[in-house]
Amino acid sequence: MDAAPGTRHHTRTRPPETPPEATDPAIMDALVIRGGKPLQGRVLISGAKNAALPVMAATLLTPGVHTLRNVPLLRDTRTMADVLEKLGARIELGARACRIDTTNITSVEAPYDLVRTMRASIYVLGPLLARYGNARVSLPGGCAWGPRPVNLHLEGLKAMGAALEIDHGYIVGREVRLKGASFNFDVVSVGATAQLMMAAVRATGRTVLDNVALEPDITVLGDVLNRCGARISGLGTRRLVIEGVRELEPIDTTIIPDRIEAQTFLAAAAITGGSITLESCDPGDMAAAIQKLEETGCEILADANEVTITGPRRPHAVDVTTAPFPGFPTDMQAQMMALCSVADGTSVITDTIYLDRFTHVPELGRLGARIELKGNTAVVRGVERLSGAPVMATDIRASAALVLAALIAEGETRISRIYHLDRGYEALDQKLIKLGASIERIRE
Ligand code: EPZ
Repeated sequence: MDAAPGTRHHTRTRPPETPPEATDPAIMDALVIRGGKPLQGRVLISGAKNAALPVMAATLLTPGVHTLRNVPLLRDTRTMADVLEKLGARIELGARACRIDTTNITSVEAPYDLVRTMRASIYVLGPLLARYGNARVSLPGGCAWGPRPVNLHLEGLKAMGAALEIDHGYIVGREVRLKGASFNFDVVSVGATAQLMMAAVRATGRTVLDNVALEPDITVLGDVLNRCGARISGLGTRRLVIEGVRELEPIDTTIIPDRIEAQTFLAAAAITGGSITLESCDPGDMAAAIQKLEETGCEILADANEVTITGPRRPHAVDVTTAPFPGFPTDMQAQMMALCSVADGTSVITDTIYLDRFTHVPELGRLGARIELKGNTAVVRGVERLSGAPVMATDIRASAALVLAALIAEGETRISRIYHLDRGYEALDQKLIKLGASIERIRE
């Protein structure tokens, strides 16, 4: 374990953190979309946000210069870079590669004003405890659609010997020496799996994690850590066995393509009746969604790292129930609802991961969708056509759903608060324009 970083105040070359909405003019951006054009052409899928964020946090485990290629340039990866800089890391977040130097960490505090803008900031907790035995990380708040508990993160770390306290909204660990433990996740959790895997690789002894998440983001994180000298076995299964090691090499990796961005483009071709080819994506990471889209009438051809989709004149209604990977992803629930809103029948969409992830429903309703919510199930009665109207984005995937609906709605749709979209997608509007969509980004 490294000596705890000094309490040297971080010399700030930038104004003190204030939430993006107060300093970033782009926060008032809106998209104006004129619907009706089938998408045509090829689109390059960016690196995966949800794979990049834990790997960025994992650079804290080891002093040195880490190289991460294909990190998507979007609001959330910039926020994670801000958090790491706040801890003392030196970062170059470039278009092709991200270099992170975590040699001189000067603080173990991840402040509320950053963590509240992106809950994945909590990923720094495990690595800080593993490397320094000390951490002070703000509890993330809820999010647009409701509470997002972190009890599994805390219970797992406590099982590994971290006596954590909650002090004025912060998770505090002092003089912690992580040791191997057995822990079973009573709910499959992507974030908690990543958190405990990162904590365990430098703990003393063996850790056994049961009922872990199988998302590619987890497998990738484990592979990256193993290439740095970690000893994780069982990747791709529900049980991970991790032998703690004392040293790790710096990370040097290329982030995998973003399967959720890719599936969002598949849904965009489906809803517009277009025909597009996705470059640099892994169809194996999207099997559930590809099957569902074929049921709506899409024709999909997939090879090792490209997928070509041709949408139907009008999609058939389908029933969708989200589940942990490899099931249908909750991060595609909103986009699928947009597609089903113009289907030739009634679709039943159930989210079993987040029971209240439906902030997109009233906004889709403003465009003419007929959706009835019953608990965590939406009954979607397909309509012939949607009509453009002003709507408001509320979270990353709800924004994407509104963009998809606007691509097919008659007339003009204005989507405000598009910073939600910019949190999770790299230049989605620009990529759609290249596929023939009529989209203008304006500043309200
Ligand atoms: C990750 O969030 C993703 N975010 C989410 O994507 C995604 O929706 C989610 O996994 C589910 O697949 C990132 O990877 C950065 P969870 P995470 O822990 O890790 C419950 C997007 O749009 N739970 O897998 O926060 C939780 O309430 C984002 O890119 C606990 O009860 O999600 C949920 O019901 C949105 N206690 C279920 O587990 C905990 O301690 C799955 O959540 C943690 C989670």
